[in-house]
Amino acid sequence: MSNQLTFDVSTIDQPSSFKDERFDMIHQLYTEAKQDRLAFWNNQANQLVWQKKWTNTLMWDRPHARWFSDGILNAADNCLDAHLTTNAKKTAIIWESETGDVVHITYEELSKLVNQLANCLRADFNIQKGDRVTIYLPQTPEAAVAMLACAKIGAIHSVVFAGFSAPSLAERIKDSSSSLIITALDANRRGKRIPLLNMVHDALKQTPTPHVPVLTVNGGGENDFYSRINAQPTQCQSEPMASEDPLFMLYTSGTTGQPKGILHSTGGYLTHAKYSTKLVFDLTPSDIFWCTADVGWITGHTYVVYGPLLNGGTILMFEGTPDYPNKGRFWECIEKHRVSIFYTAPTAIRAFMKDDPSIPQQFDLSSLRLLGSVGEPINPEAWHWYYRTIGKSRCPIVDTWWQTETGGIMLTSLPGYHPMKPGVAGAPLPGLSIDVLSQDALSLQNTRGFLSVTEPWPSMTRGIWNNTERFKDIYWSTFDTYFAGDSAYKDDDNDICVIGRVDDVLNVAGHRIGTMEIESALVAHDAVAEAAVVGVHDDIKGQSIAAFVILNCNHQESPALLESLKAQVVTSISPIAKPKMVIVTPELPKTRSGKIMRRLLKQLVEKTPLGDITTLAQPDIIPIIQKKVELS
Ligand code: WTA
Repeated sequence: MSNQLTFDVSTIDQPSSFKDERFDMIHQLYTEAKQDRLAFWNNQANQLVWQKKWTNTLMWDRPHARWFSDGILNAADNCLDAHLTTNAKKTAIIWESETGDVVHITYEELSKLVNQLANCLRADFNIQKGDRVTIYLPQTPEAAVAMLACAKIGAIHSVVFAGFSAPSLAERIKDSSSSLIITALDANRRGKRIPLLNMVHDALKQTPTPHVPVLTVNGGGENDFYSRINAQPTQCQSEPMASEDPLFMLYTSGTTGQPKGILHSTGGYLTHAKYSTKLVFDLTPSDIFWCTADVGWITGHTYVVYGPLLNGGTILMFEGTPDYPNKGRFWECIEKHRVSIFYTAPTAIRAFMKDDPSIPQQFDLSSLRLLGSVGEPINPEAWHWYYRTIGKSRCPIVDTWWQTETGGIMLTSLPGYHPMKPGVAGAPLPGLSIDVLSQDALSLQNTRGFLSVTEPWPSMTRGIWNNTERFKDIYWSTFDTYFAGDSAYKDDDNDICVIGRVDDVLNVAGHRIGTMEIESALVAHDAVAEAAVVGVHDDIKGQSIAAFVILNCNHQESPALLESLKAQVVTSISPIAKPKMVIVTPELPKTRSGKIMRRLLKQLVEKTPLGDITTLAQPDIIPIIQKKVELS
């Protein structure tokens, strides 16, 4: 898969406001990391509060890393208690609801809520260190409280994005064998109320443990969240956690129908969360940091909750969506809360670009000083729009490449240090080694190859819950080093541009979705005999989903059937996985060994040249599918 690339990327200098202050500091970090990588990471880990310091920095038994392993610490203590002597009255969370209500929560208040919930988990639900707790909550402060309360007592939280439907939730509850579910009666979404508690009840019926307790915000009854926690003391003894004890697991999509429970450790994860937030976003005490990601994704874990709180920052948490009830909602939030650092996804940026350009101009965005992008490649056009229209050519943009598995940001151009190249994520952060490799694991320059992290790093995933073999197979069987599943190229300055996934994982509006998950949902429909799903280019979402289905013989194609197939995906996975098009076809393009050639389906939809089709078992199927695509 290697082809020579020619590219022409204009370089943009860092705005002057950042240059001098940070250049020397970052230069020093790169120098230190180069001289002695482990000593460098010791320094970063030392920024946390440890109950017992470690002596052993790294034990590396590929693919198993143990960082700071004899050290002891607690994540909630680091996020909250560590700030109480100096910053108790500082706002930790500014929360704005979809309806526009605003709540400010200080570090002291947040700490009390967390302690109360932690006490409740222990006393009322007998949750012990190592138990799993599923959190299925909207983007509300209770989500952060729930995560931190688990951390306080050493329970492993598994946050499930509240947009997932009951069967997906059930799968995650089952796989993690959670002892408790924390949810809310409902969630606000674009003026509608989504009945989360009902979904939990539906999900539990599909698990072997239908009687797992459910603690519910606004749920009433005996397991009402606030009634329970209000009865608890506001002090709580934190659980001493070994650095390698898991802090959380988070499910993400892979190439099979089964999502992977990605595990993160305590000490290593927190080290990178604290370090990367401070370094990449230049977070200072007076900043208002807004990361628009939902807590249900890794970005929400690391840059809504852990990273900013570890640094004693103030975060804005927004329950709503960018364009509800009007298309100026995001900019209104920035103006209203004087947001200084804004971190969002290219999909949102592209959607804004399509709208009336005068909308952002109606708002005072002068509080912004740094912008970020995450989740998918940002095309240069969107980059420039973001830079000029939102940042007024004053704010650096950090295009941050990372993954659920990496725990925190891995590649970016650092404000005040690297020139920015629109569309190119940039360089590895100090302390990280990342390269672009050929199939033979040779380092490539100016040639497309596979992205690989070539040295262990503190926040690397410690594995897949209950599935070490799968962990080894996915990430460690291609190269000796970590295989990220992305293709990329490295330019003459060693800056890395990440192009996209090389596996059967889609990236729709920055959300990772496995093709197999959608295919399984489709074939579960009575009418479907076989299904193949591909990601096709979409101007706004990056990719959208095209599904090809073969119907069972007693079913006929009709508009109603196509709608019901889409609905099937929504109810069994999530609205985010809804196919944009469903195409009924009499056959799928397969190799002689029976493997579906998804590449061809993608090319047919995108109308790009088909290339080599000699391996096809039935080449004459191609014009038939082509015709169906044209008609759809
Ligand atoms: C993609 C999100 C290009 C990539 C933090 C990766 C990106 C996947 C970028 C991880 C970026 C993320 N440029 N591609 N700046 N950031 N990706 O696990 O394909 O939800 O493998 O983590 O998103 O998605 P995940």
